[in-house]
Amino acid sequence: MSKTWAIAATIVFANLTLSFTALGAEQHKSQQQPQIVLGEWLKFETSQVKPRLMSNLLGNGAVLASPSQSDPDYYYHWTRDAALTMDTVAGLYEGTADAGERSRYLAAMKNYAYFSRQLLDAPSLSGEQHNHYANLGEPKYFVNGVAFSRDWGRPQTDGPALCAITFLHFLEIAKKDAAERPFDNDTIRAMKEALVANLDYTAYHWHDSGYDLWEEIKGQHFYNGMAQRRALLRGAEWMQQIGQPDTADFYFRQAAALTVQLQRFWDGNRGYLQATLERSGGLDYKSSNLDTAIVLAALHTDENQEFFGPGHDQVLVTAEKLSNVFGVIHPINQRTTDGGGIRLAPGIGRYPEDRYDGNGASEGHGWFLATAALAEVHYRAALHFAANGHIEINKTNAPFFRSLPKVDGESAVLEVADIEQGIALRPSQAKFKATLRAMLLAGDQYLARIRHHASSGGSIAEQFDRHTGFMRGARDLTWSFASLITAADYRNQLLKVLDGKDS
Ligand code: NOJ
Ligand code: NOJ
Repeated sequence: MSKTWAIAATIVFANLTLSFTALGAEQHKSQQQPQIVLGEWLKFETSQVKPRLMSNLLGNGAVLASPSQSDPDYYYHWTRDAALTMDTVAGLYEGTADAGERSRYLAAMKNYAYFSRQLLDAPSLSGEQHNHYANLGEPKYFVNGVAFSRDWGRPQTDGPALCAITFLHFLEIAKKDAAERPFDNDTIRAMKEALVANLDYTAYHWHDSGYDLWEEIKGQHFYNGMAQRRALLRGAEWMQQIGQPDTADFYFRQAAALTVQLQRFWDGNRGYLQATLERSGGLDYKSSNLDTAIVLAALHTDENQEFFGPGHDQVLVTAEKLSNVFGVIHPINQRTTDGGGIRLAPGIGRYPEDRYDGNGASEGHGWFLATAALAEVHYRAALHFAANGHIEINKTNAPFFRSLPKVDGESAVLEVADIEQGIALRPSQAKFKATLRAMLLAGDQYLARIRHHASSGGSIAEQFDRHTGFMRGARDLTWSFASLITAADYRNQLLKVLDGKDS
């Protein structure tokens, strides 16, 4: 690594004198374009990551976690990464009018349907197919569809639920665009078979102890429960529509049991939602039980915004805790402005005690998808408040509102007393919109953090180093791309609500 990254420098650009301490290669970009507004960068960045995401999708429907084949080897189809990515691809399909793009997204969705259908018959170390598709608890597959057969944290019970959620989304598209008939009958059949099997797995295996989304701890996890609950609720509605009321009823009952289980994860003393209960194996040093998985759960499963959705008090304070903790433990976060003087929120990792460095065990770092999740939760909570026409500041969520940044030139800011005593805001009050604007700015500061550590060419890896800020871990991580695309999309939606314009 070159020494120059660590030196303090003063540069003159466009009549502006900027002082900064260069921390990574990405500094180069800020030197060149100190005033580039975030919205412009996001347009550039999403235009870069979309084709990169698409090139990680193989012709047979396998979704590469990353094209990296060594140090680390991520050249596999992970059920979780694939389902989340393909849900994003479905959103891209819905969001574009460009015929060429639409047909490329559609082809990828079809390929993924066939590949997922093929996995139903793939034997795995996670269990037997005849046991309600226990084999589908397998976390990762070779790109030819053969289950990974060496040691791994298995089973992972979130994957089938996420896969079901994605297929329910595809089928909604099929229904909405019925006149266009985007999917042929064979593809619809493959999707439905994959959906039914993944729902069956979820309905019968949700209480199994399994590994968490980071593949490290065995137990009951908030993230998994949220994904399972959403899959079962949506799946039950679908079963009703196709004339299977008994199955629907069984799914509703499982979802109701999950609704009860999930309330147990709130720890009032610590003031945040716990990631795991009833740990039965795996690593044992995650003493805080504080995890970005909570925020991801809210983002990936907002079936009912009131149920631990992005605007939920307990979700918001958990997000605020994460921000606080990572702000302190990752040295890179001591830098709070970029080369152009733009404010940066802390880079966020998976959880404070993390030791996974992207290739082995030493210490954890910032993760792009975790930092994007913090941005997205701010945008989506604001959208939720706007849609409801109501913001309630109370004892539980006060730390979140206290943490919001000041918007330049905004006079209708929340007073200390509003936060300390609690207040209910309605759209007619100036403070209502001002609070939404502060949430937009808070989200933007996370995206500015991503911009700061991303490569100037637009590529993003899995992680950025907690000391140097340089990217590390798997390059071109598919899930990183998907997370940025969805965060940018919700940011646009919020801008429309606030200003009636795009960016
Ligand atoms: C690989 C997993 O994908 C990662 O999440 C985990 O932290 C390491 N193995 C260490 O268990
Ligand atoms: C490690 C992450 O912890 C896990 O969540 C992910 O599924 C794999 N890498 C593949 O990206």
